[in-house]
Amino acid sequence: MTIKTFSLGGDLTIHRLGFGAMRLATGTFDGPPRAPETGLAVLRRAVELGVNHIDTAGFYGRGTVRANELIRTALTPYRDDLVIATKVGPLPGPNGVPSGQAAPGQLRSLVEADLRALGLDRLDLVYLRVGGMTGPGGESIAERFAVLAGLREEGLIRHLGVSNVDAAQFAEARAIAPVTAVQNQHTDGIGLLAECEEAGIAYVPYFPLGGGITPLDTERLGKVAARLGATAAQVRIAALMASSPAVLAIPGTGSLDHLEENLAANELVLSEEDLSGLRG
Ligand SMILES: NC(=O)c1ccc[n+]([C@@H]2O[C@H](COP(=O)([O-])OP(=O)(O)OC[C@H]3O[C@@H](n4cnc5c(N)ncnc54)[C@H](OP(=O)(O)O)[C@@H]3O)[C@@H](O)[C@H]2O)c1
Repeated sequence: MTIKTFSLGGDLTIHRLGFGAMRLATGTFDGPPRAPETGLAVLRRAVELGVNHIDTAGFYGRGTVRANELIRTALTPYRDDLVIATKVGPLPGPNGVPSGQAAPGQLRSLVEADLRALGLDRLDLVYLRVGGMTGPGGESIAERFAVLAGLREEGLIRHLGVSNVDAAQFAEARAIAPVTAVQNQHTDGIGLLAECEEAGIAYVPYFPLGGGITPLDTERLGKVAARLGATAAQVRIAALMASSPAVLAIPGTGSLDHLEENLAANELVLSEEDLSGLRG
């Protein structure tokens, strides 16, 4: 049976099926802003249906519609068990598109901006998000991660994570301060999963449904979904949850229907036959 919860950093119990907030403000990377009322309704319904891990970032937004502000408006006063994870690293650019990486000296102000936007005194989990849209690797993250470790010591951050990192960067971070979660692209850096599992670190694949970049559905998924009377998205989420107890799923959507569909995947049990059908 798939274990449904994960102990983040050893002191925050979260449901492994969470919610990614990037799609609240806009459906595509160059699309128009979405209606804030829908984003608020999606967030409230997500929490109502049991989500207590929301993945967000100060740079998720389009125009005046900002994910963090929607979260604060929809969900304050926050439930005690709600865990909000944010990311710093990318510099907010025009119209919500990041414009390069923050220097170490700029990270504090990004963390403080997240605290203000979310209306919190302390952030539960802050990832250092490294690099641009390409794969991980190629630069030291020690200086930037050390700044976040200092903010954690000060009490502004509870737990630290790293995002879009390779094995060397992961090791660099772990030598500086405890790493509680790794967030890499679903298809990237799966090599880090075994290390995360062993160390009790969460592995949080982004683009769990293909990110609107690769097709959500495939022939193999379609066959398993048809057999189970489920949708391709549900099978993808259930397969992700079955892949390791350290994996947290954060499917993103700005649609109430998709949200309900995705969260219903919690009840979907995949057999060995289903899983081997997916592997081909
Ligand atoms: N660390 C990083 O660098 C990084 C990068 C990207 C994302 N993230 C995080 O990861 C989360 C998940 O990634 P993501 O939102 O980009 O991609 P995703 O979860 O793989 O897919 C979201 C896309 O699939 C659509 N979708 C969602 N549910 C669906 C369903 N049941 N049926 C059909 N289509 C569905 C969404 O459209 P609708 O909105 O119209 O439903 C959206 O286009 C983000 O929200 C964000 O929190 C992190």
